[in-house]
Parts: sequence; structure tokens; C-alpha cells
Amino acid sequence: MEMQADKQIRLLLVDDEEDFRQTLVKRLNKRGITASQAASGEAGLALLAERPMDVVVLDVKMPGISGLEVLRRIKQMALPTEVILLTGHAATQDGVEGIKAGAFDYLSKPIEFEHLLGKIRQAHDRIVTIREKQLEAECRMRLGQQMIATERLAALGTLAAGVAHEINNPLAIINEAAGYMRLLLNKQAAGLPHREGFQKALDKIESSVKRARTITHQLLGSVRKNESVLAEVDLAELAGETLQLLAGQARDKNLKLELETTTHPKGFWIEPNQVRQVLINLVSNAIHATPAGGRVWIRLAGTDGGGVTMEVGDTGTGIPKENLEKIFEPFFSTKTPGQGTGLGLYVSRQIVEKLGGTIEVRSCLGQGSQFILQLPNQVEPT
Ligand SMILES: Nc1ncnc2c1ncn2[C@@H]1O[C@H](COP(=O)(O)OP(=O)(O)OP(=O)(O)O)[C@@H](O)[C@H]1O
Ligand SMILES: [Mg+2]
Repeated sequence: MEMQADKQIRLLLVDDEEDFRQTLVKRLNKRGITASQAASGEAGLALLAERPMDVVVLDVKMPGISGLEVLRRIKQMALPTEVILLTGHAATQDGVEGIKAGAFDYLSKPIEFEHLLGKIRQAHDRIVTIREKQLEAECRMRLGQQMIATERLAALGTLAAGVAHEINNPLAIINEAAGYMRLLLNKQAAGLPHREGFQKALDKIESSVKRARTITHQLLGSVRKNESVLAEVDLAELAGETLQLLAGQARDKNLKLELETTTHPKGFWIEPNQVRQVLINLVSNAIHATPAGGRVWIRLAGTDGGGVTMEVGDTGTGIPKENLEKIFEPFFSTKTPGQGTGLGLYVSRQIVEKLGGTIEVRSCLGQGSQFILQLPNQVEPT
């Protein structure tokens, strides 16, 4: 065990006496410790700048900068390194000064090898403990930051919904004004120069308002808690309705829409509007991703715990692995700006989690995707 730990010690020996160094390095080697060496304080510092060391065994009396000075510089640089000083015989004063300057300990020459080895091991243990504590502290800090990030995201959601709500009013006014201008243009400005230009500009205003509305509605939908009503729902009916809503889009693309129901709970209590919004988001994504001639389906099944599994699947393009983590992030979209805002899945997940359920995705590139919802029965236990 000790040998194993010794092997990992990164040790530097700084001493100007060549013979002393060689002997010590050899003996250390026999005990499984590989030591680097330097013949002067300057050389030692240069080596430390390149290679981190756990323990430095440092002669005090050397030509050039002294061991004490080297020690001070090591401490100044705040290196994670323990220093053991080797002082001359009867030079206790140096040793005491060294301890004051932050040395781990000092030994007087001539040194006793086993004694030095023991000190090196102790110094190394201390470095390891310090490092572990530091790692622990860093880890705790990261955890704290993560929690802050989650809270911030929740706060951001509330803010976004607030902004969305505020923006709805001016949007309505813009829309009305545009409508009024169109009316005037059609009725009274038949001879107006650049009439077509006006009309095109109005089209742009109206389509942009529509787009902004979709965004605000999505954002509001994710936090609108009080408006949701719990009701006893026939899930097959709800899923069928959803498919019906999007049947036109599917027909345009020549896609088959299918509803598969195996056993699923009757008398399921849930918030139908919220579940409908999720299904609409998932099914329209599926329709978008599937080339002509493909299939999109909703599959329903009961779970053992009285809940339900709803799978929305398609035979579409699939989702690249590197995107799987990102698709639930707000504003992540691979669609062109007019086609997608990247809020559909973000909002869907928010809703599902609020309902106490989960949403998962499986996807195979080129073959299709399945989004799997698990929802609990919200009926209160009596
Ligand atoms: N069934 C699917 N098949 C392939 N890719 C999908 C599927 N569903 C989602 N994606 C990918 O995930 C992205 C994010 O989807 P999300 O519904 O959040 O936003 P969007 O559809 O781009 O925009 P919108 O806000 O209008 O829904 C999509 O742009 C698409 O790349
Ligand atoms: Mg979408």
C-alpha cells in the first residue's frame, strides 16, 4: 500500500552537493520514489514552473539564492507544494525561520534517511488532503450554481410569460390598425400610387403579428395554471380530436394519421386543454418531419399504476444524436424562422411536468421518432 502511494509522490530535490543528491535519489528510487533534481535554487524554481511537484526537499545553504528565499517564492506563488528544509548542522535558526515562512518541517544535516522518508510521506499526505478538500469545495460550489440556474430558469419563465401577456395588447392594436388600413385601401384608395406596395406591406405586418401571437400564446400556455380545469376525459376521444385538427395539414403532405388504442383507463382525470396543447405540438412536429407517403400516429396504453402512456410517433427524418438533448430547450429549432419558434417542445415539457408526468424521446435517424408521454391519473385518492 505504502509503495503504491509513494509511487505517486512528485518529489523534487534541490541541493548543490552532487554526491549527496545522487545517493539520496538512488535510495529513494529503491523505495519506489522517483525524484527530480536541481543543483541550485534557480534551477529548482525553473523546474517548478514547468512541472507541478507535491514535495520539495530543499537545502538551505546554497550558492546563488538560498533555500529560504526559494521557499518564500514557492509560497508567494501559492503552489500546492509542501517544502521540507535541510539545514546545516546546529543551524536551528534557519529551520525556525523556514517554518515561519511556511515550510512543512526541517531536518538538520546529516540526515537520517528513514526520518526524511517519513517526513516526505507526511508532507505528501497533507497535500493530498488539501487537494481533496479543494475538490469537495469546488464540487459544492458547482452544485450551488446549478440550483441557482434552475431557480433562475423558473423565474425567467414567469418573466417571459409576463412579457408575453403585456405584448398581447399592442399586438391586438397593430392587428386592428392593419385591418383598418386594408379596408381603406380596398374601398377608397383605388387610384393610390404604389397601391400594391402598400398591400404587400400590410401582408407582412399581419403575418408578423400572427407569428408574434403564436409565441406569446405558447409562452402563456406554459404557465397558465389557474385557467386549467380538471375533467374526466376520454383520452381516445381527445387524441382523435387532436388528429382531426391537424388532418388538413396531413392530407396536404399525403400522410396517414393513425390512432391506436389498446387498453387505456376510462374515467381518466386530467386537464384536457393542456394535454391537447401537448399533443398538438407533438403531432405537428411529427407531420413537419415526415416526408410524403409516411405515417404519423398516436398510440394509447394504460400503465400499471393507473396512469397512461401516449406515444406520438412518425416515420420521419429522425433527430440527430447531438440534438436530442437540445430539442427541449426554449428557442431551439432547426426550422426556418417562418416555420418554427422552437418553443413547442419546451412548453410541452413544462406542461407535462406540471401535470406530474414525464416526456421522453426515442429517435432513429432516417427512420422516425417517438415521443412518449407518461401521465398520472389526477383524480384525488379518496
Ligand atoms: N418528430 C420529430 N422529428 C424530427 N425532429 C423533430 C421532431 N420533433 C421535434 N424535432 C426537432 O426539434 C426541434 C424543436 O422542436 P419544437 O417543437 O420545440 O420547435 P419547432 O417545431 O422548431 O418550433 P415551434 O415552436 O413552432 O414548435 C425542431 O426544430 C426539430 O428539429
Ligand atoms: Mg414544434
